[in-house]
Amino acid sequence: MRLLDGKATAEEIRRELRKAVNARRENGQKIPHLAAVLVGNDGGSLTYVNAKVKACEDIGFESSLIRYDDDVTEDELLRKVDELNNDPDIDGFIVQLPLPNHIDELKVTEAIDPTKDVDGFHPTNLGRMVLNLPCFLPATPAGIMELLKRNGIKTSGMDCVIIGRSNIVGTPLSVMLSRSSEPGNCTVTLTHSSTKDLEEKVKKADLIIAAIGAPGFVTAEMVKEGAVVVDVGTTRVADETKKRGWALKGDVDFENVAEKCSFITPVPGGVGPMTIASLMINTLKAMELNNK
Ligand code: GUN
Repeated sequence: MRLLDGKATAEEIRRELRKAVNARRENGQKIPHLAAVLVGNDGGSLTYVNAKVKACEDIGFESSLIRYDDDVTEDELLRKVDELNNDPDIDGFIVQLPLPNHIDELKVTEAIDPTKDVDGFHPTNLGRMVLNLPCFLPATPAGIMELLKRNGIKTSGMDCVIIGRSNIVGTPLSVMLSRSSEPGNCTVTLTHSSTKDLEEKVKKADLIIAAIGAPGFVTAEMVKEGAVVVDVGTTRVADETKKRGWALKGDVDFENVAEKCSFITPVPGGVGPMTIASLMINTLKAMELNNK
């Protein structure tokens, strides 16, 4: 078994981005500026947004964190989106999901200027992604593709089973992995809560992507010898051995599955750092796209 080390691969990308930013600085060009909007105090969302802001500082991007209480109105949030759309200093921005129930997530996502939508969640970007046109790719699926590519994993011809059909991960990844590219050229089965004989399907897969948020869901019995396993799960579970009282658990029973597969991503240190690296790539691209 070899570890698909997302932390190390993301660091490689960060080094490249630092170089690009330094070159821009030396030439007196604009430095990329990412803004992140966070509503509420959910621990997980706060951790992710802080990691995104920290990544900006580490690479040399500018960043702004805009926070609202849980009871912010939809109108107020839409006004902020409009302000960010029209702020020439902001190259790209994200609104961290999920949002509170009284706010329509689709309405907020649709209000974002697609040329600043570095999360790639706007219907324009998702549609362009399906047609393989230039666009912002959603960060987690793009990070997984980059992780496979930079670790020399040839997926052409593989049978791939994706567990979970979310708009953010499973659905876009099913498109990316089935297109004519390397990585890609997979025969993809996108599974979900109504899938029959899920275990049998996973057992036949050469590439397994677990993205459902159910800790330890994929067990060794479900995995074929030599399969490549990518774990997107990041659920906080109680852990008294940790000072903070919890640990991050993936969707894969890592210890037992690791013995059977050829490659596996750890949690933490697998897909998570790659998601952040992809967002940074998109932010640089947003600035270049807008010719700044
Ligand atoms: N919530 C979970 N993942 C993401 C992400 O990549 N972007 C945003 N905006 N919200 C998320």
